[in-house]
Amino acid sequence: MDLQFGSVCVRNPDTVFKNAIPHMESIVASTTFSYDDPEALMEVFLGEQKGFVYSRWSNPTIELAEQKVAALEACGINDEQGKPIKLVAHMFSSGMAAISTLFLANLKTGDKVLAQENLYGGTSEFLNKFLAQHGVEPILMDLKDLNGAAALIQSDSKIKMLYIETPSNPTIDVYDIEALTRIAKQNDLIVAVDNTFASPYLQQPYRFGVDFVVHSTTKYINGHGNSISGMLISREDSVMNKSIFDHRKLLGSNSNAFDAWLLLQGVKTLEIRMQRHCANAMKVAEYLSTHPKISKVNYAGLPSHRDHETAKKQMRDFSGMLSFELKDGLEAGKELMRKIQLCKLAVSLGTVDTIIQHPATMSHVGVAKAVREQYGITDGLVRLSVGIEDVNDLIADFEQALE
Ligand SMILES: Cc1ncc(COP(=O)(O)O)c(C=O)c1O
Repeated sequence: MDLQFGSVCVRNPDTVFKNAIPHMESIVASTTFSYDDPEALMEVFLGEQKGFVYSRWSNPTIELAEQKVAALEACGINDEQGKPIKLVAHMFSSGMAAISTLFLANLKTGDKVLAQENLYGGTSEFLNKFLAQHGVEPILMDLKDLNGAAALIQSDSKIKMLYIETPSNPTIDVYDIEALTRIAKQNDLIVAVDNTFASPYLQQPYRFGVDFVVHSTTKYINGHGNSISGMLISREDSVMNKSIFDHRKLLGSNSNAFDAWLLLQGVKTLEIRMQRHCANAMKVAEYLSTHPKISKVNYAGLPSHRDHETAKKQMRDFSGMLSFELKDGLEAGKELMRKIQLCKLAVSLGTVDTIIQHPATMSHVGVAKAVREQYGITDGLVRLSVGIEDVNDLIADFEQALE
């Protein structure tokens, strides 16, 4: 058929590859997917065949990223029959979209969710403001008190979910996933873990029988600080998969092909990045713990850390995340932020560059001092996401900034 100028098109661009297969994953930036055979499209609509229809529902590049993260979380874990466990990941527009969907898809009016007090600020805001509005009550307690948690769960049949963030943001507390999951499962609770600070290389909550894992993939999994995204992972046979898929489809909290592609590139180096993050963080933590201007270093790798034994039990290494307290409080924190050079003064974490932030004047500036101090966020607390630079340069940066 002869086409006029305005109608000239390439019918199927994939034919340009001929027999060659692109080495890198393709960015399939197509909103919609066309079919030559209407019967085949109908089968996809009916759910009889798997296929792509519309990128808010699913997309080939996003699906590759999902498969990769699900495989990393499942890597090396077998079920009771000795067979490798199978996980399914759903990619979202952000970590918060994954976390909010976890709660919305699993809890209904009248239910309660049990979590620790010192959660990532966005999660705690979602629980206290949004979920509470939907009639779901959050109960926040110290989840290191295992007997207290067990007693509470046994005494209240409305508690339907246990939510654990470990290590926690920004206080670097570590919670015992195995012990908490055992208690929760004795009472048929759903167990979900935010694995953002560890990444699947350092910690695999499915080893302990949890139901869901969430990630802000914005952080270590992408690793380069160039996109915002999240993953919600569940078991392949979970009845929730359909509900999670539907929530994402109808809330429109899907990711996009470019962010999925950035994740696919970033995650290729996850293992070696994490090794370097951990090695650097240990040296920086050791240096900071001997500094006269610092009263305390929170790094799970230090034998002096209150949760070191728990971290050793469930983590391969101790992550690049640490926080420390300046003896001279608020003013010392401000001065450090002014003087530091190589470390980037910013929020977020888990990137190849070292990121430093002072919660009292940045992320928690709007939170009353008495409230934040309850959760260990003091005036002098500084959070550090140690990058993969030469560690001697990082230490020299602190040396000059703390002088
Ligand atoms: C532990 C943790 N979970 C979830 C989130 C939310 O992720 P996002 O910013 O990708 O929505 C963050 C963000 O900092 C986080 O630190």
